[in-house]
Amino acid sequence: MEMDQLVALCKRRGFLFQSSEIYGGLQGFWDYGPLGVELKRNVREAWWHDMVTAHNELEAPPDAPEPYEMVGLDCAIIMHPQVWKCSGHYDLFHDYMVDCRESKRRYRYDQVQGRWVEHNGKRVFVATEASGEEALQDTQQKALKFFNLRAKNAEELQWDAPLVALPTVQDASCVLGPDAKTLGTLTEPREFNLMFETYCGAMRDEDNKAFLRPETAQGIFVNFKNVLDSTRVKVPFGIAQIGKSFRNEITPRNFTFRSREFEQMEIEFFCHPGSSPAWYAYWRDRRYQWYIDLGLGRQRLRLRDHTPEELSHYSCGTADIEYAFPFLAPGEFGELEGVAHRGDFDLRSHMEGKLVRQGSDLVVEKDADGNPRYRGSGKDLSYFDDLSKERYVPHVIEPSAGADRATLAFLCEAYQEDECPDEHGKPVKRVYLRLHPRLAPLKVAVFPLVKKDGMPEVAKEIYKALKPHCTVFYDEKGAVGRRYRRQDEAGTPFCITVDGQTLSDGTVTIRDRDTLRQWRVNKQDCPAEIQRLLTA
Ligand code: GAP
Repeated sequence: MEMDQLVALCKRRGFLFQSSEIYGGLQGFWDYGPLGVELKRNVREAWWHDMVTAHNELEAPPDAPEPYEMVGLDCAIIMHPQVWKCSGHYDLFHDYMVDCRESKRRYRYDQVQGRWVEHNGKRVFVATEASGEEALQDTQQKALKFFNLRAKNAEELQWDAPLVALPTVQDASCVLGPDAKTLGTLTEPREFNLMFETYCGAMRDEDNKAFLRPETAQGIFVNFKNVLDSTRVKVPFGIAQIGKSFRNEITPRNFTFRSREFEQMEIEFFCHPGSSPAWYAYWRDRRYQWYIDLGLGRQRLRLRDHTPEELSHYSCGTADIEYAFPFLAPGEFGELEGVAHRGDFDLRSHMEGKLVRQGSDLVVEKDADGNPRYRGSGKDLSYFDDLSKERYVPHVIEPSAGADRATLAFLCEAYQEDECPDEHGKPVKRVYLRLHPRLAPLKVAVFPLVKKDGMPEVAKEIYKALKPHCTVFYDEKGAVGRRYRRQDEAGTPFCITVDGQTLSDGTVTIRDRDTLRQWRVNKQDCPAEIQRLLTA
């Protein structure tokens, strides 16, 4: 599947629109249309149901070290600015960017790559934002243009084989920027903080500066004590939250994959330091399996443990759940979710102040006068275990997923093309979304074969009977084959058709989107049959 085909389907069928499209769009922002809003809501609800509401706290789930509790939160998007200073986001949540003086474009330093090429003794690094095969073609074309060569003279170019990252290049004067015609137009890399700034109240000054949260996690940490004091939860337990996050990404791209406004589904799981490695292993495998259960293929999904160099300074283990998105080069994967062992870094930061690593310890960072660089809340966020009489700061395991990325992965996986016979038996191309029934925006569509002979009346009765239980679509317009194809594109798993036989024996056909199998059931049995099919 080419990404363009999915993007076109999403627009055509009302899954996703570019934000503010009539004004030319706003980069990095997306609107979910009538089908998209149902799909994303189903992703969120599946997560909340499976992680929180359906969790049985009386028994240990398979492979969990022991039973545990799960509760939820819904925090404000704007929080006290000190939260971000102590969490490290104020100082450290940045990417490096480079600007092109010629094209006036800005790039994420770590996402530009290129190839060294030589012609007539001149060596140049040709940079590109593309990856894989596209990057090879792009750099070849740019090099031909730069050296004023025709395509037929391409063999005069001497390439240093592989694509390498821009940060490996020492001499910026040899670099031909991704959109430049001359050499050396890229600036030195500079830090760029990704938090969106805003102001609270009427004064737009430093004292009133605030930030749109770049992650939902911090709302959970700063409410740890509130949850402990207001509920009877005992460690181990998890707090879950779903909500919007904002990051001023330098290069939003790949449809909704990297947006500036997106939704996260995060759990902060608090446990005893001694059992934290076992809980980390549990959550890593549990979250990986969740995507498989909802339809992602194992061959396109992988669990990748971070190397020691990749780990954050406070983390003793992190794994990414990654998906082979079709916009990536073959063999490349993009992050769907991170599962991190965060130790006691977060709770201690909000108690003591911003922490830094000193040898193997985490200590409060000091300013030039020896005072904490950013003071913590001073509140006691430790936990007292009544049974063991032990007081400790719990360790945290954080499974952090993106609702929009998950939705995109489910859409990519679902996109299918095949051939099926039209109403005259002629094979025609069919595009359909093989979404898991739990995720499908519409669960069932009801059609009268023709708009006469009492068929619409029977179909409307079935529609009415199904409506309280699931999302149903009634359609009587156009040829029935076209109506089926519209539902296939929307990912609707089942279609019910009222036809001539219904009028004589009271049965209707049910059609399965994936197998195209059709069978008859009594019209009164439709709600029970659909319920059975959706939960099968
Ligand atoms: N609290 C940890 C945290 O926020 P992260 O890896 O930065 O970790 C977690 O983000 C998840 O949020 C990612 O795996 C991804 O699914 C989603 N995400 C992050 N940045 C995103 C963006 N710019 N657009 C869409 N989703 C994003």
